[in-house]
Amino acid sequence: MNDKQAVALEAASYVKNDMIVGLGTGSTANYFIEALATRQQQENLRITTVASSNISMIKAQSVGLTVLSLAQLSQIDLYVDGADEITADNSLLKGRGYDLVMEKLLAKAAKEFIVVADKSKLVSRIGENYPIPIEVMPFAWQAAKRSIEAIGGTGDLRPNAAKDGLCITSYGSLVLDMRFDASLDSHQLNALLNNIPGVVEHGIFAKLASKILIADQGKVETRA
Ligand code: 5RP
Repeated sequence: MNDKQAVALEAASYVKNDMIVGLGTGSTANYFIEALATRQQQENLRITTVASSNISMIKAQSVGLTVLSLAQLSQIDLYVDGADEITADNSLLKGRGYDLVMEKLLAKAAKEFIVVADKSKLVSRIGENYPIPIEVMPFAWQAAKRSIEAIGGTGDLRPNAAKDGLCITSYGSLVLDMRFDASLDSHQLNALLNNIPGVVEHGIFAKLASKILIADQGKVETRA
């Protein structure tokens, strides 16, 4: 069993009968979906899920989970998802898979948000390994980019290498991948980005995680 499977299995142990469970997106979230389906089958649990992406929805349906739309719900019991970066104060960077709008909605709607990751995701600051993904309305991308540059951001629209064009999200937005100076604290940056017109959502998840499960060589550490 690899580390991503180990944390996914541990996260699945938090699920109880009759829960509504949010499903994240990515390879670790996929292992969670599999572990959840196994528990549902073996223990005959009643579980309803809501997926953060079309990919996760299809994966969940393929393993026999019931998937509802978030439009039918205002709150969920538990959300389990991976992350791209995790700091010591439990701030997260997400959205390399560009489904961050739904991911943040589910993280906020959940009574409990459990993050599942291997040790490679630990960083000393948000933005250390990746630019910050910022989803923008297509007609606003130039204006939003200019506002983001005014607070010190540098970067450009995310390309879609596979399709030889631009990356377009499930909801028709464009993604700006922007880097910021290391001196700009992620909580400050979170507040600044929340205030820019044309920005739909961004990948800094501050103060949203309830628990972070980190696996290192098969051992899972739980941070609250
Ligand atoms: C997608 C995400 C993923 O959770 C993040 O990219 C981690 O993926 P993986 O589990 O494959 O390492 O934020 O938007």
